[in-house]
Amino acid sequence: MAELMIKGGQRLLGEFTVQGAKNSALPLLAACFCVSGQCVLTGVPRLSDVGATVEILRHLGCSVRWEGHTVVVNARAPRSYKIPSQLMQALRSSIFLLGPLLARLGMAEISEPGGCPIGARPIDLHLQAMEQMGARIHYGEEKITLRTPKGLHGATIRLHFPSVGATENILMAAATAHGKTQLIGAAREPEIVDLARFLNACGAKIHGAGTNEITIEGVRRLDGCTYQVMPDRIIAGSTLAAAAVTGGEVLLRGVVHEHLAPILPPLRRMGCRITPVNDTLHLRAPRRLQSFGTLITAPYPGFPTDAQAAFLALACTATGTSHIEETIFERRFRQVRAFSKMGAHIRLKDTRATIYGVPRLHGARVEAMDLRGGAALVVAALAAEGNTTITHAELIDRGWENVSQVIGRGGVRNQE
Ligand code: EPZ
Repeated sequence: MAELMIKGGQRLLGEFTVQGAKNSALPLLAACFCVSGQCVLTGVPRLSDVGATVEILRHLGCSVRWEGHTVVVNARAPRSYKIPSQLMQALRSSIFLLGPLLARLGMAEISEPGGCPIGARPIDLHLQAMEQMGARIHYGEEKITLRTPKGLHGATIRLHFPSVGATENILMAAATAHGKTQLIGAAREPEIVDLARFLNACGAKIHGAGTNEITIEGVRRLDGCTYQVMPDRIIAGSTLAAAAVTGGEVLLRGVVHEHLAPILPPLRRMGCRITPVNDTLHLRAPRRLQSFGTLITAPYPGFPTDAQAAFLALACTATGTSHIEETIFERRFRQVRAFSKMGAHIRLKDTRATIYGVPRLHGARVEAMDLRGGAALVVAALAAEGNTTITHAELIDRGWENVSQVIGRGGVRNQE
């Protein structure tokens, strides 16, 4: 178990280049399996979740080579359609191989995926969509086996919830299906647009990504390409939050402002001065933040659920009372107990958190419960008086590549 020791009370100052997006790199790696050739992904963050996906690709028979932040994947000769449970369990995005497996091999044997324990996180929308495209599903004791006797075919698919992962699986399955697929109620996240751009660069015919209606004309085959992963909007937000909570000043490089549109207004309401210039963004924080009022998480372009914990950390020491409504996952306030241990005053009721700002937090020994909760503890620890030890810090490595840069001089890492 890894521990992170953070000395609070330092202003975060400096320039940071935003890492590649974990939640784009993962589906892009899965999409490489759809291509019977070599793909080169650049700007891939070096994260444990990326490593776990590479392990799955290798298990399926792909050759995968790391060169710095570049990953070269060759899926010319897949040798299996089965993903062992322990690889499925390693992360949520193991489910992203479902569409590619059916598209390439017409078969898939999977089990329930793992991932941050932030809710039930069923995969019914993924499975229903594959069934609509011609897959036959057999539910075994532990395994789920899917076969497409006549190959995948286009369909009109309506999602009752804009699931990011289901949208991504459908794009990957439909890219080489027979005929046209109309996806209604699609997720609109930037990561969906990144995946569609990658697939189109490989020869797919996908239109409407980024809107809630996407059309995919199946093509015979996809060819390899070289593609740069989009910047991580959630890590950009976490870095901005770390600067905001410490009265700091940062310049972020390599941002896409549009992706940050949902999180900049609450930062401005808290008193931060934000100046976007080209692909950079400058933030100067006030000495003490004011309340952002109320935040309600929602599918993009709403406020991202993945940024919720970091903004809850900001509210702990802001003046006034703040409210957060979590509408996406049913167990995404698990970090509140740790914030309270650090002196925060938070009341939870159902899906709503009410945060009564206090002047300061104090350091404590706290446990990261998941990736984004752990990242939020880093934000809170930076603002706290004294030292904080975050246990299970390996959860933060799932998604934050250079968290040590943000922690700076006051941070020490222990690997037990
Ligand atoms: C992706 O998860 C992200 N993960 C999550 O980030 C992110 O929080 C989430 O999208 C929402 O933006 C990756 O991209 C690897 P969903 P995903 O399908 O695809 C329900 C992080 O910290 N649902 O949009 O699993 C589900 O239970 C992670 O980086 C079904 O009911 O999210 C949830 O309530 C955490 N049936 C809601 O939809 C399904 O078949 C949103 O899930 C699928 C989902």
